[in-house]
Amino acid sequence: MVLRSSALSLLLCVGLLRSCPGSASPRRTGCTVERRRADCSHLKLSDVPPDLPRNISCLDMSHNRLTTLDPTALGRYPDLERLDVSYNSITALARGLCDSLPHLRRLSVQRNEVHQLTQSDLQNCSGLTHLDLSDNRLKLRGEPFSVLKVESGLFKPIAGLRDLVLDGCNLSPQFLNKLCVELSHMPLRNLSLRNTQQAMLMINTFQGLITTNLTTLDLSNNKIAGIAEGSFQWLPLLESLSLENNNIKSLTNGTFLGLKSLIKLNLQKALIKTKTSHYPTIDDFSFQPLVKLEYLFMKEACFSKISENMFYGLKSLRKLDLSWSKTGLKTVDNTTFASLRGSPFLQTLNLTGTGITKLEPGAFSRLGSLTTLVLRYNFISQELTGEEFQGLNSVEEIYLSTNQQKISLTPASFIHVPTLRILTLNRALTGTLYMEPSPFRPLTNLTVLDLSNNNIANINRGLLEGLHNLKVLRMQHNNLARVWKNAYPGGPVLFLRDTQNLSILELDYNGLDEIPLRALQGLFQLKELSLSGNLLNFLQSSIFDDLQSLRYLRMQKNLLTSVPMETFGVPLSNLTELRMEHNPFDCTCDSIQWFSEWLNTTNTSIPGRAQGYICNTPPAYFNRSVIYFETDSCKNLTLFQALYVLSSTLVLGLMVIAFLVHFQGWRIQFYWNILINRTLGMKGSRYERLAEDRYEHDAYVIHAPDDRAWVERSLLPLEDKNLTFFLEDRNAVPGYSMVETIVDNIRRSRKIIFVVTEALLEDPWCRQFKAHHALHQLMEDSRDSVVLIFLQDVTDYRLSQSLLIRRSMLKSRCIVHWPLQKERIVAFHQKLMIALNSSNRVS
Ligand SMILES: *[C@@H]1O[C@H](CO)[C@@H](O)[C@H](O)[C@H]1NC(C)=O
Ligand SMILES: *[C@@H]1O[C@H](CO)[C@@H](O)[C@H](O)[C@H]1NC(C)=O
Ligand SMILES: *[C@@H]1O[C@H](CO)[C@@H](O)[C@H](O)[C@H]1NC(C)=O
Ligand SMILES: *[C@@H]1O[C@H](CO)[C@@H](O)[C@H](O)[C@H]1NC(C)=O
Ligand SMILES: *[C@@H]1O[C@H](CO)[C@@H](O)[C@H](O)[C@H]1NC(C)=O
Ligand SMILES: *[C@@H]1O[C@H](CO)[C@@H](O)[C@H](O)[C@H]1NC(C)=O
Ligand SMILES: *[C@@H]1O[C@H](CO)[C@@H](O)[C@H](O)[C@H]1NC(C)=O
Ligand SMILES: *[C@@H]1O[C@H](CO)[C@@H](O)[C@H](O)[C@H]1NC(C)=O
Ligand SMILES: *[C@@H]1O[C@H](CO)[C@@H](O)[C@H](O)[C@H]1NC(C)=O
Ligand SMILES: *[C@@H]1O[C@H](CO)[C@@H](O)[C@H](O)[C@H]1NC(C)=O
Ligand SMILES: *[C@@H]1O[C@H](CO)[C@@H](O)[C@H](O)[C@H]1NC(C)=O
Ligand SMILES: *[C@@H]1O[C@H](CO)[C@@H](O)[C@H](O)[C@H]1NC(C)=O
Repeated sequence: MVLRSSALSLLLCVGLLRSCPGSASPRRTGCTVERRRADCSHLKLSDVPPDLPRNISCLDMSHNRLTTLDPTALGRYPDLERLDVSYNSITALARGLCDSLPHLRRLSVQRNEVHQLTQSDLQNCSGLTHLDLSDNRLKLRGEPFSVLKVESGLFKPIAGLRDLVLDGCNLSPQFLNKLCVELSHMPLRNLSLRNTQQAMLMINTFQGLITTNLTTLDLSNNKIAGIAEGSFQWLPLLESLSLENNNIKSLTNGTFLGLKSLIKLNLQKALIKTKTSHYPTIDDFSFQPLVKLEYLFMKEACFSKISENMFYGLKSLRKLDLSWSKTGLKTVDNTTFASLRGSPFLQTLNLTGTGITKLEPGAFSRLGSLTTLVLRYNFISQELTGEEFQGLNSVEEIYLSTNQQKISLTPASFIHVPTLRILTLNRALTGTLYMEPSPFRPLTNLTVLDLSNNNIANINRGLLEGLHNLKVLRMQHNNLARVWKNAYPGGPVLFLRDTQNLSILELDYNGLDEIPLRALQGLFQLKELSLSGNLLNFLQSSIFDDLQSLRYLRMQKNLLTSVPMETFGVPLSNLTELRMEHNPFDCTCDSIQWFSEWLNTTNTSIPGRAQGYICNTPPAYFNRSVIYFETDSCKNLTLFQALYVLSSTLVLGLMVIAFLVHFQGWRIQFYWNILINRTLGMKGSRYERLAEDRYEHDAYVIHAPDDRAWVERSLLPLEDKNLTFFLEDRNAVPGYSMVETIVDNIRRSRKIIFVVTEALLEDPWCRQFKAHHALHQLMEDSRDSVVLIFLQDVTDYRLSQSLLIRRSMLKSRCIVHWPLQKERIVAFHQKLMIALNSSNRVS
């Protein structure tokens, strides 16, 4: 029963993976203990530490210098369930280990130097379910084929083993066969035989496993070239088989015979073509036995062709990955995937990098259940008429990106796939998108659209019309500068009008130098905005005002000189990350003060905050970081500005007053006097009205200096008839101001005579002050006190312009004309006497 050391010197390479979860941290000086887990890894220990809590269940001793597993030392921790001693220098498992550790379930002895294993080493290890002995030193002692003489029962002591990892051990076909027999009747679930130098699988290789209920078999990284038909018939419960990275020449209808429970088959790089070999072949009906298969991975597989019935019988298939496979596929027509018509659950078909150049009408017409179709990295060069996608009734994602930019669209391109949610066309398009209706118009449920890297220059407003559900729009690396110019004929193209649910918008590298005022209007949900690598300089202040939800803003590598609050206050208010480095910032108070303060105080993540934000101007700050901008200088400036404004206001105000006084002074004086008279002289004036006798003069004569001669000659003689006139140049008392003289004496005169000539109308004092005063007297005091003597004919218009008096305002007897005829002078005097003697009462 004992496996003699001389007999099996083939050594072990079993690996059991996980050690103690949740433990790892370099640079410690001692073990760390958390709950019942002890992490003693990476400590250069040569013994098991004696001072850990007795009740630990998990001990990680990996990456140390242990040479033996001492059962006595480990016996201090009898509750251990997991022990990881990988990456040490252990040469043998210790006899009695499991007696000391009765609860041990997982033992990882990966990467040690164990070169022999005996039954007594595993004595009483019945609780062990995971044993990893992978990558131990393989030593063959004596004759290699002595392995065949191994006595059975090696694994009997560990009858509970579920996972056995023998990766990296050189297992001869005969030994593998024998091993499988040894493993029979064990509840083995996973068997990992990676990199164990297998070249052929014989029909009986796995025969011994028939009673094990194995679910996972990993044969990857071998050199398997041939698989005998029926090799897997012993594994009816196998669910996952990996043949990744092998050298299989052919698959036939017998290869997978019996794998009726298989769910996952990994054939990635399993079939390869070397320079000298032919293309491997996959016969029709090869996968037919795999009735439960859901996932078939054939990435980078190489085989001659996809034959008409190749995928026949894969009733449960959900995902087929043919990415980067070499199959000579060029044109996909309605026969290519016809064999998948019996796969009603197929959801994902990955045809990335398969060399496709053309999609024929109905190419996928049998795949009505498909939700995801990946056609990236192909050479498709055609106009999509829409027929190509006919029959894809459930498709939600189509990836057409990176297709040599030879695909052109028509308004009908997507009419058969209105269920689409994700469409990528980056690096794929040629031709124009300027068409009505837009090719995307049928895609009302679209949430992600990638049009980046297409050199798109011309679009219209309807491009995204109706795409109310669009959340992600990528249009970077195009040429959209022109359509966003304010000078664009008909105004800038506001193509984001309908996409109000947008969450991510990428417009980097588009040569943009303007953002139209309403371009980003209504994007209240926008979380990420990328505008890097454009030529943006001046931004209008309200363009970002709706972007209240913004979390990521990328505007690096533009021509921004200023970052004012009016523009950036809203988008920067609650940002997670800002990228705005490499702009030629103008470090002046106006341009940068607010931003500099924001940069210094914000919690937003700003990569390159110190080195990326550099002042370009003014020279004083050239090449210095924006965060070192001295905002104090702006505060001084603010004070200075305030003073400046104050003093200039004062100066201006004084100037205005001076001008007012100069040109309108009489008016001010006039109203001032009225005010004074009204408040102080009210009583007096009423009294005066009662006693007209108190007038000192019968009339105050207003005349132009030029008319003085006439006054003396024709008016003063009337003083002989018991009238007294007040003449400024005759009666004014020296020492009194002009204004006082006028005001006082007009008040003391019963009448005011205007000697109306052109000269009078030109005289400024007369025109303005005296006339006003007279008029005031006329109106306010209700006196019929003005008499006009016309020496010349003057139009009423001129009169009202200059003296503010109209003929109609006066009684006709108060208007007298100087006659041209001498004989009428008597009559004139008569008339004047009547006018001067008339009552002042307005009747
Ligand atoms: C394990 O033992 C330590 C003392 O050594 C004790 O503090 C802790 O509560 C014990 N943990 C459990 C789960 O029994
Ligand atoms: C260990 O195994 C031996 C022989 O198989 C047996 O006599 C002994 O009782 C076992 N010890 C324990 C603790 O199970
Ligand atoms: C395999 O599974 C069957 C049914 O579940 C069970 O009865 C049998 O004991 C299992 N075999 C082993 C070796 O675990
Ligand atoms: C064994 O298989 C189970 C399920 O099939 C899986 O969860 C586990 O990680 C596998 N263990 C190993 C060592 O492969
Ligand atoms: C496999 O194909 C061959 C013909 O190529 C046929 O004779 C044989 O019956 C097929 N075997 C199975 C299991 O279908
Ligand atoms: C496949 O397409 C060809 C023409 O392209 C057509 O004649 C044929 O009927 C189609 N087959 C099926 C099954 O749709
Ligand atoms: C398709 O295959 C490519 C390349 O293997 C891979 O990167 C991509 O994730 C796959 N896509 C899907 C949807 O499986
Ligand atoms: C769009 O999505 C909604 C909700 O998922 C669905 O009811 C509707 O049928 C979809 N429209 C199309 C055209 O697929
Ligand atoms: C945003 O999307 C929701 C569904 O996701 C839709 O009901 C709503 O109408 C959309 N909003 C706008 C403005 O289109
Ligand atoms: C700011 O953003 C966080 C998430 O990043 C969000 O939870 C919070 O509500 C936002 N605050 C405001 C005022 O929008
Ligand atoms: C920002 O911080 C730097 C150093 O921490 C300081 O020199 C600079 O004056 C600060 N700028 C503002 C605007 O607070
Ligand atoms: C930054 O975070 C700290 C602590 O989380 C908080 O006290 C402070 O107010 C935050 N500053 C800003 C500008 O949000």
